[in-house]
Amino acid sequence: VVDIRKLYAQTGKFTYDPGFTSTASCESGLTYIDGDEGVLLHRGYPIGQLAEQSSFMEVAYLLLNHELPSSDELAKFENTITRHTMLHEQLATFYRGFRRDAHPMAVMCGVAGALSAFYHDSTDITDPKQRMIASHRLIAKMPTIAAMAYKYSVGQPFLYPDNKLSYTGNFLRMTFGVPAEEYEVNPVVEKALDRIFILHADHEQNASTSTVRLAGSSGANPFACIAAGIACLWGPAHGGANEAALNMLHEIGRPERIPEFIARAKDKNDPFRLMGFGHRVYKNYDPRATVMQKTVREVFEALKVNDPVFEVALQLEEMALKDPYFVEKKLFPNVDFYSGVILSAIGFPTTMFTALFALARTVGWVAQWNEMISDPEQKIGRPRQLYTGPTQRDYVPVGQR
Ligand code: ACO
Repeated sequence: VVDIRKLYAQTGKFTYDPGFTSTASCESGLTYIDGDEGVLLHRGYPIGQLAEQSSFMEVAYLLLNHELPSSDELAKFENTITRHTMLHEQLATFYRGFRRDAHPMAVMCGVAGALSAFYHDSTDITDPKQRMIASHRLIAKMPTIAAMAYKYSVGQPFLYPDNKLSYTGNFLRMTFGVPAEEYEVNPVVEKALDRIFILHADHEQNASTSTVRLAGSSGANPFACIAAGIACLWGPAHGGANEAALNMLHEIGRPERIPEFIARAKDKNDPFRLMGFGHRVYKNYDPRATVMQKTVREVFEALKVNDPVFEVALQLEEMALKDPYFVEKKLFPNVDFYSGVILSAIGFPTTMFTALFALARTVGWVAQWNEMISDPEQKIGRPRQLYTGPTQRDYVPVGQR
């Protein structure tokens, strides 16, 4: 029997890197991460500055168009996005095929994929104009899709977009507003949610972005590629971690129980992990978690709430960061650790958390997809494998086995 691993090592032609821990799959000018220093830059701009000073629409423009917009360019871009916020009316019928208690991510995978059946005029990926229209459509329609998934799950009528509102304000109204009643957007909540969207906009070649690129590398249409990204994001080791983190904080319930959960996370015989902790790339504090923690306080103050899970989260972080297990393995809070606390205070049920992540990450997905398709050297993504099955053998008819 030939040891294929040895053979591959000798030829030097293949690298075996399960989980892609040290393999770059592409070149990209979008996002830079220095995981040891806890640095995240979008087209050179630090995430902290973008989160504090810009808006989600500005960041979307930056990721798609390489540079920050002038005020005229921003106004034009916002206007374009606004014009695309409506969903084709027949898509409302499509929603009715889902069970009422379907997870919003299941609905979003289905509806995002179904867009390719409605917007044929933006599926020719060889035409840069069509690619940009599809990108604008996806960015614009995602809040409508997510809000409708929520409305469907609570049995309320869908609300049409109100294009007088901001991107984020409109999403809040479509989610929490009720027909025939005025919905007043709370500016602190609007700003906080917009900031959360900025923090989730892109994060280089994470699992869902790599999925979008791989799907797109075959020439698949952008709506199908984004549906693939949503499906991947749903997993608890990726976007699903924000939902899992809040569930964990509720399960811990009070600070006295934290040591019990830290002990479980360290126990190799227990599959439990501290959700919202650890990251493939960050071996330092995730800079997004810093902004997120600050935003919790702002939202609590504006809404006059004081959820005890925040105290549990703060104390859990403090204890874990003093524990040799977490120090040695360089496990710090990631973006998902505090985001659930904020989203829950705003009123989103936990099942919507990953849907909000998908909404924001759509910007990164479409920007990465455009970058890939525009590359003249672009090839279909086709990883190799190390075969570990049986060597060649002869077929035995079924009666003789
Ligand atoms: N709690 C306890 N131990 C942990 C945790 C955790 N949250 N995360 C990692 N470890 C331990 C592992 O058991 C492993 O220990 P070992 O070396 O003794 O076997 C070591 O740290 C390295 O962990 P890996 O799983 O090998 O690291 P990887 O880079 O593959 O995983 C991941 C990163 C998936 C994020 C992991 O840290 C994790 O599962 N965290 C919890 C889920 C989570 O918060 N995910 C959100 C990620 S951010 C995002 O997607 C937006």
